Amino acid sequence: MTTSLITGPTAGIGAAFARRLAADRHDLVLVARDGARLGETAAELRERHGVRVEVLQADLATDGGISAVEGRLRDAGLPPVDVLVNNAGFGNRGRFLEAPMADELRMLTLHCEAVLRLTAAAAEGMRERGRGTVVNVASVAAFMPRGTYAASKAWVVRFTEGAALDLRGSGIRFLALCPGFVRTEFHERAGMQAERLPSWAWLDADKVVAAALRDLARGKVLSVPDARYKTAVGLARHVPSRVFGALSAGAGRRYDPKPPPHRG
Ligand SMILES: NC(=O)c1ccc[n+]([C@@H]2O[C@H](COP(=O)([O-])OP(=O)(O)OC[C@H]3O[C@@H](n4cnc5c(N)ncnc54)[C@H](OP(=O)(O)O)[C@@H]3O)[C@@H](O)[C@H]2O)c1
Repeated sequence: MTTSLITGPTAGIGAAFARRLAADRHDLVLVARDGARLGETAAELRERHGVRVEVLQADLATDGGISAVEGRLRDAGLPPVDVLVNNAGFGNRGRFLEAPMADELRMLTLHCEAVLRLTAAAAEGMRERGRGTVVNVASVAAFMPRGTYAASKAWVVRFTEGAALDLRGSGIRFLALCPGFVRTEFHERAGMQAERLPSWAWLDADKVVAAALRDLARGKVLSVPDARYKTAVGLARHVPSRVFGALSAGAGRRYDPKPPPHRG
């Protein structure tokens, strides 16, 4: 039986990974902060797919939360994790100097430190077993000059590509998944006025996951689902970032000055 650990599986893209991997008969380890929601998600997946689901309540923007998940990944007494999906993430409101520094630092911990430490904890066992998969959810923003969010996702892409090169031949597959706008709780949580975006800009989370798994099966390390966003990334890579940044300055960055809803 394959066991997959997914961070942020209670909403959006992570929930789509959990549904798809459970449907593919993977046992699951689900990690997020909101214990009640984790319990509901686990119960639904057990009932629908008959798979084994563990839950681990942890805040991956804290050292203690990351350590708890590292502990699960290294625990020789529990089923080894064959597939790690580092998905948990959030957006911050506004431009540089508008987001509180504490939120910027929480973002770097969640998007970079947690991804680094969990990938290392999982990859050690995977290398010993000669097989495993790590999917790190980045963003098309990784290719654009768009604040701490984009910089942290650029790190995720480069880190994943580097790990794939360093561990070539180990049996571990790596994928950096770079979606465009996906309908999830992300924008509401960040207090972004995403409803202003045109309907064609939006992707469906289940389709994003299906595209990622297809790319993984083809041996790709970078997955950009959907032709529109492949074109956008192609442009972003070739047009000077000053010009591209000016062209795309408004998209997804307008924010609602009232505080975002508290969850978790
Ligand atoms: N939606 C988009 O347009 C889009 C586009 C490109 C990339 N992405 C990336 O896709 C990933 C998933 O985003 P989404 O859109 O699916 O977001 P979402 O709907 O807001 O879901 C976020 C998930 O992450 C968990 N989470 C958030 N902070 C956490 C923390 N500190 N510790 C542990 N779990 C945490 C949440 O659960 P709890 O609140 O219970 O912890 C939830 O399960 C993120 O990395 C995001 O950057 C999203």
